[in-house]
Amino acid sequence: MSIAVEQPLPDIASYKSLENDELSSRIQRVREVMGPELLILGHHYQQDEVIEHSDLRGDSYQLSQMAAENTNCKHIVFCGVHFMAETADILANRPEVLDSRGYRVSVTLPDMAAGCSMADMAGIEQVENCWADLGELIDTNDITPVTYINSAASLKAFVGKHNGIVCTSSNAPAVLDWAFKRTSRVLFFPDQHLGRNTSLTMGITNEQMPVWDPYQLEMGGHTDATIENSKVILWKGHCSVHQMFKAEHVELFRKQHPEINIMVHPECPQEVNDIADVSGSTGKIIEVIKQAEAGSKWAIGTELHLVNRLKKENPHLEIHFLSPVVCMCATMYRIDLAHLCWSLENLIAGTQVNAIRVDDDVANWSLVALERMLSVK
Ligand code: 13P
Ligand code: SF4
Repeated sequence: MSIAVEQPLPDIASYKSLENDELSSRIQRVREVMGPELLILGHHYQQDEVIEHSDLRGDSYQLSQMAAENTNCKHIVFCGVHFMAETADILANRPEVLDSRGYRVSVTLPDMAAGCSMADMAGIEQVENCWADLGELIDTNDITPVTYINSAASLKAFVGKHNGIVCTSSNAPAVLDWAFKRTSRVLFFPDQHLGRNTSLTMGITNEQMPVWDPYQLEMGGHTDATIENSKVILWKGHCSVHQMFKAEHVELFRKQHPEINIMVHPECPQEVNDIADVSGSTGKIIEVIKQAEAGSKWAIGTELHLVNRLKKENPHLEIHFLSPVVCMCATMYRIDLAHLCWSLENLIAGTQVNAIRVDDDVANWSLVALERMLSVK
């Protein structure tokens, strides 16, 4: 595996000045030379010109499965955000495949600034403090900690150690079901909306779901009685993109187009999720649009790049973006052709940039929680 590249490689700034056509053909060249050794994974929120270069695309759950199932590549380049690349590193390098394969799969995130603002809303120390506070009041053996996959590996390790589990937006109901078969309470972080929207479908009421504020000194801002009467303790975290969809946007579309179907991601607030016709992960949103009747009308509440792509790929449908303002994930957007080309040309030159490598102890405990999730049907 070798390719003639300028040595030493120029830095990212000089890639930024190149035209997309040139970047694309250079990316393509690396892909051809590396062949099956290279696996480019892409999340549905990526820009069109980036996702076109991905070998496989999916929602968070599907991408985890792809990383776990692919046992013959040597390098994964993840076009997505930091927690997704960490998850790929943990699953692609789990001990049993590592031993039989005999080498580590390298994982690269083309731009290290591609984080997730929601994931950053729950820090490991805050969660540990919350757990300790809860332990002063109730038996933590009777609480299952559930972390949304949009979280740092250290939080996944925390739930792994405490008999908990990871969930994604596509399996949250099954995961909560799993949790309630084991304990009578759940601590759900970092996304309060996914936790609330899912729990409401299981008959849990808002009164039974206090929101834990990590910046409050006493019991997350609640009385002991509120915590004692809770079923699901939600974390005060949210997605800044999905938070921007409002109930009035739904009402306006319904007024203007009475026959329209409203479809949203479950990271949207309850007042939006409750009145939508369909709620689901990005994978589900794509699937529903695939099956939609020609001529049907849709207003979709999720990240702008995905909605625009669905619009372009389905001219037989009338697809609208649910919000009048631009709701795009600024961190997903950081992965552009310049960063992809720069990281791939470095990889093939033998100088991996932006390596994602989860610490072994954290990876082992995270794996416990991720494998629990992958086994839940
Ligand atoms: P999906 O799991 O639906 O792809 O969602 C990931 C995400 O970050 C949504 O904001
Ligand atoms: Fe995180 Fe929201 Fe971006 Fe998804 S859309 S990666 S939850 S900030």
